[in-house]
Amino acid sequence: MRTFDQLIAAHRAGHGLVRPFYMNPEIFERDMERVFRRHWHCLTHASVIPNAGDFELFRLGDEAVILTRVADGTIHAMLNVCRHRGAEVCTVQKGNATAFVCPYHAWTYTNDGSLRAGRMMPKDFDRSQHGLKKLHVRVAAGLVFISFADKPLDFEPVERSLRSSCGQYGWADAKVAHRETYSFSANWKLAIENYVECYHCGPAHPEYSKTHSLKQPSETIEKLNLSMEARTSALGVHIISGDHWQHSAAGQEAIDTFRYALFDGAETGSEDGKPVAPLMGGFTAYDGGVTSIHLGGTTFLICYPDHGLIYRFIPQTVGTCEMELIWLVRGDAVEGRDYDLARLTWLWRVTTAQDKKIIEHTARGVRSHYFVPGPIAPMERNELRFIGWYLEEMSRAAP
Ligand code: FES
Ligand SMILES: [Fe+2]
Repeated sequence: MRTFDQLIAAHRAGHGLVRPFYMNPEIFERDMERVFRRHWHCLTHASVIPNAGDFELFRLGDEAVILTRVADGTIHAMLNVCRHRGAEVCTVQKGNATAFVCPYHAWTYTNDGSLRAGRMMPKDFDRSQHGLKKLHVRVAAGLVFISFADKPLDFEPVERSLRSSCGQYGWADAKVAHRETYSFSANWKLAIENYVECYHCGPAHPEYSKTHSLKQPSETIEKLNLSMEARTSALGVHIISGDHWQHSAAGQEAIDTFRYALFDGAETGSEDGKPVAPLMGGFTAYDGGVTSIHLGGTTFLICYPDHGLIYRFIPQTVGTCEMELIWLVRGDAVEGRDYDLARLTWLWRVTTAQDKKIIEHTARGVRSHYFVPGPIAPMERNELRFIGWYLEEMSRAAP
């Protein structure tokens, strides 16, 4: 096989990635080191652990993370790996606890990760050096982000950006209405490459394409966008508009924010374009717009005036990944009274089922030793950006 440097050197500008990027276990390990363990990931919305002592366990490939809220209200994240002989310390998915007792030899950790007791250890055993490995945590617009890196990428510009996007949609006061996890028999990059382009939306997503304009030629979108932006500012809502792309080259986390219009008459992302939940944040009416955010390597967000979506892509093995889809609504909305779960989730459940099929068709196709990536179409601009960004991350010196 060609070396990694040879593969990078042979990459054809304007084309997709070659087979080894989806099939080779060594490249997958490099993905984990350069992208997964270097970048920030959204885990969830802070409202899933509202009270002191609440915790939830998250599995991300080989890693398991305990997310806790401690007595002073702050959120902590730590690896679920005992500092004695490595057993999983927390064995339940979700609950409320002030301490975790390892099921193996009963070392006991408080819910901020410090080791409170190690049974029958010698007198000179230093508990302070044996807490659970802590991860960096940031909460922005109600979203909880973690980074595995020792020195994480600068998150401040992302926080600022999220304040003027998700912040305007009131995400800090939102709640989780529904979560669903999808497993794909495909390399994680195939799932993300599919997510970021809408060239496939016309043929693959007839339901989505009825209300969303992204599959249209750019002149049509631009016209629709102009009237959408006018409606947004008439509502007094100020969301960054246009295309905002921040690279991660300068040690800052990458974020790409853009807005686009629904077709005239459509108000939100639903089966019939009609509202599905109470308006959120600064919205007093529907502007017919969608805000879309791509963050780091695995987090994707969609904001409508009445609900939001978090997409978490989780690489598992070289040939499998997961995606968790989280639906957000206003914090005080009550299911059955203010929203109907089936209507709220219909569009993106239908669309994701379609995506799963095409992602797995592609995964089977690229397995062929004769697969040669073709040219990326102009409508796949964001895919090209993702591929370019990924290759740069992968070409960096090892952390
Ligand atoms: S492995 Fe946890 S106490 Fe021994
Ligand atoms: Fe899709």
